[in-house]
This record gives sequence, C-alpha cells and structure tokens, in this order.
Amino acid sequence: MRRTQPALVAREEIERQRERMREIAQMPGRPRTYCIVTYGCQMNEHDSETLAGMLREMGMEPVERREDADFVLFNTCCIRDNAERRALGNVTWLKELKKERPERMIGVCGCMVQRPGMAERLLRQYPFVDIALGTHNLYRFPELMAQALTTRRRVVEVVQDDEGHIPEDLPVCRQSPTHAYITIMYGCNNFCSYCIVPYVRGRERSRSAEAILQEARALKADGVREIMLLGQNVNSYGNDLQDGMTFPQLLRALDETGIDRIRFMTSHPKDLSDELIEVMAGAKHICHALHLPVQSGSDRVLASMNRRYTRAQYLERVRRLRERIPDIALTTDLIVAYPGETEEDFQQTCSLVREVGYDAAFTFIFSPREGTRAASMDGRIDEATATRRIEELIALQKENTRRRLQAMVGSVHRVLVDGASRRDAQQLAGKDEYGITVNFPGEGSLVGKIVPVRIGSAGESTLRGEICEGEIL
Ligand code: SAH
Ligand code: SF4
Ligand code: F3S
Repeated sequence: MRRTQPALVAREEIERQRERMREIAQMPGRPRTYCIVTYGCQMNEHDSETLAGMLREMGMEPVERREDADFVLFNTCCIRDNAERRALGNVTWLKELKKERPERMIGVCGCMVQRPGMAERLLRQYPFVDIALGTHNLYRFPELMAQALTTRRRVVEVVQDDEGHIPEDLPVCRQSPTHAYITIMYGCNNFCSYCIVPYVRGRERSRSAEAILQEARALKADGVREIMLLGQNVNSYGNDLQDGMTFPQLLRALDETGIDRIRFMTSHPKDLSDELIEVMAGAKHICHALHLPVQSGSDRVLASMNRRYTRAQYLERVRRLRERIPDIALTTDLIVAYPGETEEDFQQTCSLVREVGYDAAFTFIFSPREGTRAASMDGRIDEATATRRIEELIALQKENTRRRLQAMVGSVHRVLVDGASRRDAQQLAGKDEYGITVNFPGEGSLVGKIVPVRIGSAGESTLRGEICEGEIL
C-alpha cells in the first residue's frame, strides 16, 4: 500500500537548528576545532559531510588529527561486529586524551548508537562521552551541542522514528569540489535476515524528485562533475511517493541536467527492472558501472537470507545488462559462512563468481547481529572454515579482477582527475567511467578535468596510462 508523501522535518525545526548554530558560534567557551572520524558506508560519509556543515556554521574549523581537535565526533557503523569494535576501541582510546585536556569534547553518533540498548550502554560504560545521538535525529545535533555547552552535562538522545522524517536544507560541507553525494532515499524495507540496517535506519522513504533535481542542478552550477546517488535500495526509489517518479524516471531526469557523471548505489537485484537497464544503456551521463550485491550463489542460502531472487534470476539480470550495456563494469558483495552454509553452498558462490567474472567484489564473513533473524539461526560456521572460505573467494576474485583490468590495456578511458597520485607525486590519479583508479603523468592544472587516457598497463586493482588525443572536458 502506498503511504502519503513521507513527512519532512518541519521548516521551523530546521530554522531552530540554524539559530542554535548561530548562537553556538557566539559562545566564548565553545570548541574551536573539530575532527570527524567516519566508519561505515557512503551514507555515513555523507552524514559526516552534513555534520561538518553544521560544525562550520557553529564557527569551528576542521583539523586532520583527532589529537589536535577540541571536539572529536565518531560517526559509527554496526553492520558487522568488527566495525563496531573498531569504533568503540577508538572512543575508549580518546578517553586518555580527554584526561590530558578535560575540556575536550567527545561525541558519538550514527548507526551503532541507534542500535537498541546502545544508548544505555554508552551512558553506563562510556562516561567520558559528552554527546550521543542516533540516526533519526541527526538534524538536532546543533540543539544537543548547545545543551551540552550550556549545561556542561552529557547529552544523549536516541529517538525511535522508524517511519522517519526527511530533513531538507541542512548545511553540507563537501569533501570534494568535483564529487558529491546525493541521498535519494533513506532506510530499508528488505529485512535481509543477516542485516541490521533496517533496524537502525528505519523504513524506506524517498526524497521528492524535485528536491533531488534542484540539488543536482545547484551542484552542477557549483562545479561538481560527478554525483553519486545514495540509498540502501535505490531501485525501490519512489515506491512510497504518491504520483512520484520511479528510479529509472529519476535517472532520466538527472541525465538531462547535463551533470557529467552519474553513479548510484546500492541496487537490489530483485527489482532491477528492464526499464532501468534501458535508461542506463541510452543515457549520456550514467556511468557504465553497477554494484549489484549477490551475497551468495546458493538458492538455499539466498532463500534463508530473504533476498527474494534465485541464482538463475540474478544471472538472467546480468545477462540482460551485458547484452544491452556490453562494457558494463559489475561489482558485488559476498557473504561467506552464513549459518548452515555447506561446502556445496559455498562452491556455488565460487562458481557464480567465476561465471559472472566481476570487476571487483567485497567479501565478508557472516557476523551475527543481535536482533536479526540470522543471529539466532543454527549451524554457525567455525572460524577456521570461515577464514578458509573467504580466502578462497578473495583469491578467485583477484584473478577475475586481474583478467578484467588486463583486457582494458590499449583502450581509451575518460578519467576525472582527483589530484596527485598517492604513490607518486609526479603522477595524476582519477577514476574512469567504470570507477577504476587510473594513474598517468600530467600537469596539476588538469585536476577536476575529464581527460582521455590510453591504458598502458594494469596493476592489481588500478590502471596506468598516458594522456592521448581527444577532448579534455
Ligand atoms: N543495502 C545494500 C548493502 C548494505 S550493507 C544492499 O542491499 O546490498 C553492505 C554489505 O555488508 C552487504 O551487501 C552485505 O554483503 C554485508 N553485510 C551486511 N550485514 C552483514 C552481516 N551481518 N555479516 C556480514 N556481512 C554483512
Ligand atoms: Fe541490509 Fe538487505 Fe536492506 Fe541491503 S537490502 S540494507 S542488505 S536489509
Ligand atoms: Fe554501517 Fe549504517 Fe552504513 S550500519 S554500513 S553505516 S547504514
């Protein structure tokens, strides 16, 4: 059933937050510098850009090293146990720095804080944390900061707002002048058995197409060349909008804005429509790169994961994509050692990976997340088996990547130049239309330009080349 339009956070509420930011900027004893440490996915990276935008309005300057900051904010992730432990370990480490300078403030926000029971745990076990907030009330950060500064007491606010409200018009401090994230939808309705995201990000809610298009046009006018559309399952964009656009329609409209490059993530295979494939094939600015997480190659495991597609259906989507977009780069996510995964199941994942020949894959060992269905399933796989399986899969994919990159030698790729190469300051680095890093010799004046580069050689995960004849855009 379609709901009415998802609710926006009231304009007055956003205005109130803006007022708080201005007030904080006038406070004499406020922190002067900040450092945000971000864990997790692009959603979190983008949330951190919003938090940085708010901190800028509060009159604070970013610093590189957390040791040098008056305010350190951890934007956390809880997708797997190790992500969570890393964040908590670092928060604990900061406790020591706080002893050195008690006026230093520590904040924790993001998905881990939103997890049921976490707020109580933070209060009990982490008394040196000054501010904690969840995902649904990110826009209230200025209010909480103001409270912490005026009362000099800890402020913890986690709200349960699964339907979720969409905040528009928050300040954003982008990390890059040429690349920008645009959130097109929040939350997830899929409840894959292993996954915590629906519990910490709430239900699916789409931003209005108008707001998204306006943002894209403003970014273009500001010199942005590439946008990355964000959502846990972008293919169901608009399902909750009355008379809203579908994802393919939104993409077509974004393509018409003329922004140079459009990428998006993540697509759920179950609703990757023919219409989307046709739009991707026909558009001028949509990159021929698609992240299409498969998770497993075994039908039995896929059903238990509640992924709602079979191996054959997935392979059919891949066949269709390659038929219509022959040069498409495909990447994926894979989970090994899901509860009850047999050797036969695992071999089916390996054979699917061989069959598709992905350009790259992110591989994970199943991590039980409290409150999800898979966490209480029988058939937990022992660590040694899990490690052996992930290593086998990584080796297999490494060979795929090598083969795919090698096949690109001799062809011309269009590289959006980011800056000097990390390894060699004489070289420039950027990403091609497939999302692969390409290094080549060139002048600093090319940063931010899209340059034709003939690929000369392939490394393990990157390409090398030389500028060649052709238009520099
Ligand atoms: N919405 C995206 C993925 C978000 S999480 C999608 O549906 O594809 C990113 C990846 O983390 C997932 O694709 C999955 O491979 C992995 N992941 C999620 N929960 C996990 C868990 N409990 N254990 C191991 N890997 C997990
Ligand atoms: Fe998690 Fe599945 Fe939603 Fe992705 S689609 S965020 S894996 S529940
Ligand atoms: Fe992690 Fe939250 Fe993203 S759990 S992967 S930061 S949506």
